[in-house]
Amino acid sequence: MVTSRLPQDEIDRAVEALREGEVIAFPTETVYGLGADAQNPDAVRKVFELKGRPATHPLIVHIDHPRVLERWALSVPPAARALAERFWPGPLTLVLRRAPAVDLAITGGQDTVAVRVPGHPVAQQLLRAFGSGIAAPSANRYGHVSPTRAEHVREEFGDAVRVVLDGGDCKIGLESTIVSCVDTVPRVLRPGFITLTQLRTVVPEVQGRSDADAPRVPGSDVKHYAPSTPLSIVNSRTLEEVVTQLTSEHERVAVLAMRPPRVANKFMTWINAGRRADLYARDLYVNLRALDKAGAREILVEEVPAGEAWDAVRDRLHRAASAENVVAVDPDIAALRADFGEDLGQ
Ligand code: TXA
Ligand code: MG
Repeated sequence: MVTSRLPQDEIDRAVEALREGEVIAFPTETVYGLGADAQNPDAVRKVFELKGRPATHPLIVHIDHPRVLERWALSVPPAARALAERFWPGPLTLVLRRAPAVDLAITGGQDTVAVRVPGHPVAQQLLRAFGSGIAAPSANRYGHVSPTRAEHVREEFGDAVRVVLDGGDCKIGLESTIVSCVDTVPRVLRPGFITLTQLRTVVPEVQGRSDADAPRVPGSDVKHYAPSTPLSIVNSRTLEEVVTQLTSEHERVAVLAMRPPRVANKFMTWINAGRRADLYARDLYVNLRALDKAGAREILVEEVPAGEAWDAVRDRLHRAASAENVVAVDPDIAALRADFGEDLGQ
């Protein structure tokens, strides 16, 4: 389905539901969001309940235009202003000091708030018609794969979400880049489609993500962006070898690779997602969902290349992988996994 505007009566139904304190789902250019009236604390709490998300994990407030930023942010430093001007509407979220009126349910009790102006025409239509902020996380249950199609939201939530606006396939397919502008030096908290290099063309001092900054949940084994089938990241050189090993007992294995298989194997489901980072990212969650349904004992993902273009994809894959399986399959990855224990981006 081509991304375009929706008939006004569909938008009106969604606005009505929001005004009644209901939760709705809507498309953005990154992933689908599960939205509630950001000024209605009860509605915001419903989002947390539906998602099964801990109350300490803050939501993003979506607005239609930077001109209303001051309603949500106490102050907008020049760096944040510059980033907003260059990248909004678009796949960028800014973390700013919270305006006093912003409900603490949204911010997980913190003094900061995350704000974004999405570029998707349906998100824009909805936000304009609603006339205020919509608090929304990605429309998936806590820890699961994010939705990039309306049908993913329906599969996950069924009738629990009254209105699901269908804006077609998300063009970017990975969650927004999050930049915190709270301290003197702006810092990336979550990599996304907008890269550090692009951010630095506008604000040269933006820092890359520092693992020391990321909130950690001690003892938590919650994975994020994860299918239910265990997922492991495997070095390209050893991919076929690992497949042979795992299928020797005639159990099915699912593979997400950047190339076709070198040997045929009837117990394997193989998706070749290609070598272009933007297309790989766009299709990543659809591909993970498909592989999750393959009835496989394990999903193997060919390790993606080093380099900034793959940062966001690499981040999501490492969060989806289960540490013990990665260690079992490829000891090289164990070291990498140690760097990805933080709990940011669910
Ligand atoms: O592309 C996106 O950002 C999508 C679409 C729907 O806009 N939304 C999304 O929301 O990915 P969610 O809830 O799945 O991820 C929001 C992230 C979380 O990692 C959360 O910790 C972070 O934003 N976040 C929200 N408020 C924050 C704050 N005040 N300080 C730091 N991080 C914050
Ligand atoms: Mg999420």
